[in-house]
Amino acid sequence: MPRPKNAGTSLDRARPLDHQKAHEIQAFGHLTRLPIALSENTARQSVENLNQVLADTFTLRDLYKKHHWQVAGPTFYQLHLLYDKHYEEQNALVDTLAERIQSLGGLTLAMAPDIAETTIIPRAPKGREEVPAQISRLLHAHEIILKEARTMARLAAESGDDGTNDLLISDLIRSNEKQVWFLSEHLVDVPLVKAD
Ligand SMILES: [Fe+2]
Repeated sequence: MPRPKNAGTSLDRARPLDHQKAHEIQAFGHLTRLPIALSENTARQSVENLNQVLADTFTLRDLYKKHHWQVAGPTFYQLHLLYDKHYEEQNALVDTLAERIQSLGGLTLAMAPDIAETTIIPRAPKGREEVPAQISRLLHAHEIILKEARTMARLAAESGDDGTNDLLISDLIRSNEKQVWFLSEHLVDVPLVKAD
């Protein structure tokens, strides 16, 4: 029986072309120009600032998961849940920041070693901390992010990047401020059973 025409080719075409390598199509730190009516300098400044706050948001997000797993004591359950809620909200912010960077023609930081190299949030120990120390560490990280985000929002507004300004204020700053409130109330020393 004659072999169907192109049988070999068809079989070859079903084989996954794995183990491929190629040059990068965009080097980190280089901007690709998108038609969004922003100057290259403005986009570059926003991308650099957003990558910094992205690295810090990644780190704060992961700090929440660490504490979600390692929390101990009588408030275990409520903090276990609260830490995870804040983790999810920070995770959404990571995505919002990263997609803004790409929308500006930049390249987002993504991998853990690059995040660790870039963040200005102090490194947490591998070991387990008491609840007040966990919360203090989280509050410090929030404050670092809030401080830089307010400066970056002003710079974005001054340079005409209203989209970045709005993202930083409406999404990032407001979420962080609210999470700070929820955490801070756990460090108020009020009696649990008997009033003073
Ligand atoms: Fe969990």
